[in-house]
Amino acid sequence: MGITQRTQVAIIGAGPSGLLLGALLAQAGVDAVIVEQRSADYVLGRIRAGVLERGTVELLERVGVADRLHREGLPHNGFDLCFGGARHRIDLHRLTQGKRVVVYGQTEVTRDLMDHRAAKGLITYYEAQDVAVLDFDGEHPRVTFTHQGQATELHCQFIAGCDGFHGVCRASVPPQAITQHERVYPFGWLGVLSRTPPVAEELIYSNHERGFALCSMRSHTLSRYYVQCSLQDRVENWSDEAFWDELRLRLDPQAAAQLVTGASIEKSIAPLRSFVAEPMRFGSLFLAGDAAHIVPPTGAKGLNLAASDVHYLSTSLIEFFKEGSRAGIDTYSQRCLSRVWKASRFSWWFTSLMHRFPQTELSGGAIGYRLQQAELEYLVQSEAAMTVLAENYIGLPF
Ligand code: APR
Ligand code: PHB
Repeated sequence: MGITQRTQVAIIGAGPSGLLLGALLAQAGVDAVIVEQRSADYVLGRIRAGVLERGTVELLERVGVADRLHREGLPHNGFDLCFGGARHRIDLHRLTQGKRVVVYGQTEVTRDLMDHRAAKGLITYYEAQDVAVLDFDGEHPRVTFTHQGQATELHCQFIAGCDGFHGVCRASVPPQAITQHERVYPFGWLGVLSRTPPVAEELIYSNHERGFALCSMRSHTLSRYYVQCSLQDRVENWSDEAFWDELRLRLDPQAAAQLVTGASIEKSIAPLRSFVAEPMRFGSLFLAGDAAHIVPPTGAKGLNLAASDVHYLSTSLIEFFKEGSRAGIDTYSQRCLSRVWKASRFSWWFTSLMHRFPQTELSGGAIGYRLQQAELEYLVQSEAAMTVLAENYIGLPF
């Protein structure tokens, strides 16, 4: 015989979306339980981008989880585009009348949110097995799972699907009720994390004939680098030395000379895709974050889109429980998707501009490369073009 629990909102997934939603709801006095299939350590083991938009920082400040971010995060006023053997700075701060981004690893955001949740004594079921979401189009939505061998049924009024791209929530929606748009890119990113000082103060995005490269960081002593690679490539094909040699070839001479190399403490290959599911609400089930959309990491939008979804969802649910209004939940999907599609467009555009595509693709081959060079040369000479890039990169308003 299992146990039955009740809550107002059942959140599936303890990644950034689920944890931030839980924190915002708790602050407003709305009861929410998180059901996570992995252990907390496993969740923290994921290495993800960490360029935070102002809106994301403000949400973390609102729930009181921004102290370490303000101590350890790195405010960035710009980044470099590297092409034709030279670097060109995009001055975000000037082009957006004083806005900037903060570089702070997603793992640290997740850790801060986890610590906050534990300190508040809020319920999170880690290592939940066989999670199922039921009757979300009916009167009695509920989540069933097994936790520490105990069959559990969690009755709720709403289910927040914060369970990522491979989660159970979107997969539980009847196929005829959902439209899934997807574009898979014909290359991957080979990423390395190293305990070395970053090659530069700010990020460097490089378009090179050999392929894209990105120089990023987690702190002044922890660097994150990527080179575009084939989808058929394997991590075991890349020694550290081979990675560093390839990265140097794709950078300008100054950066190549200044690059400090070291042993990789993490090395992985990730595919790139653009994916959007429409709508994002199905009765009492709401999708948020990677459960609803994936962007190629070029524009560093993934975490920030999760944050804006969670902003819309938390305000909608709080409105319902505190004021009895359904206005927010009834417009949740269209408000999210309006911002999601704009960020998806920007991420697709920046990816298409910076990567080498095969001959068979529209922007591929020699002519594709020449068209990219022309756009980059125009971009860095046009105040208007750089302003468009800058306002999308720092994040459109929530
Ligand atoms: N039951 C319970 N939990 C699940 C299930 C399931 N069936 N399937 C997946 N999960 C959990 C995963 O283990 C993960 O911890 O849901 C969580 C989803 O977290 P993320 O994948 O990080 O997605 P999200 O919280 O939306 O954060 C988006 O993460 O992947 C990056 O680039 C992305 O920065 C963006 C951010
Ligand atoms: C990262 O630091 O992992 C990172 C930064 C910026 C991006 C993508 C990834 O656009």
